[in-house]
Amino acid sequence: MKTYIFANWKMYLDFDESNILANALLLEKIDFNKIELALFPSALALREMTMVLNQTELKVGAQNVNWNPKGAYTGEISAQMYKDVGCKYALVGHSERRHVFGETDEDVRKKIEACLEADLIPVVCVGETKEDKDEGKREYRLKKQLMRAFENLDLANKEIVVAYEPVWAISKAGVGEACSAEEADDVHGWIKNELKQYTDKAIPVVYGGSANEKNVVSLLAQEMIDGVLPGNASTKFETFISLIKEAEKVS
Ligand code: 13P
Repeated sequence: MKTYIFANWKMYLDFDESNILANALLLEKIDFNKIELALFPSALALREMTMVLNQTELKVGAQNVNWNPKGAYTGEISAQMYKDVGCKYALVGHSERRHVFGETDEDVRKKIEACLEADLIPVVCVGETKEDKDEGKREYRLKKQLMRAFENLDLANKEIVVAYEPVWAISKAGVGEACSAEEADDVHGWIKNELKQYTDKAIPVVYGGSANEKNVVSLLAQEMIDGVLPGNASTKFETFISLIKEAEKVS
């Protein structure tokens, strides 16, 4: 399995900044036999990027989708629309969508189904809050999120990825502290085991939450961690290319 590096640019980069960073990455020698690299820019920058990147090994993903195919949903963009303009992936249920915009496990499920229907690969984000963790409810939270996402989900001929993103580890204004590699590895193992009740497929599980060029080697050296989903560290050329180069060493 290749190592996944998924760059979630959130609302950090505008149109020009996104295209400049994508073009700078294109000039670098990246070992795509080892790395599956996907960029998740804002919806506005995305079309410009797919036009260039779809001639290359770099992939593009959406940060969010609406589950309806079309209709009177002001401000929304459907999974099929993202597929039509050349996306391969879509983030679903990111913690900022859940906690800032009130997305529920049921919404997440509908988005997953819409992605699969449109042949976009959903990257399903799950993770516990600090409060969950402090109250010993991490497994309870993850169990619930995974059950709603995967129970009776038809994955025949489909791909799906899970991202473990502990909410407490996600950076704010560039400041955050990652989960330790060993702790993340344990949780990934637990998630993979949990997923066995829903599917026979080996579903990749990637880690997000202050992943950066300094901790990526220790994260990826763990048996159960199949890739990383950096936010802040992927938005600056120097830190991102060094994260990719470090990841290549252990992939
Ligand atoms: P940071 O790497 O900035 O903590 O963001 C992680 C994340 O939320 C990726 O989806």
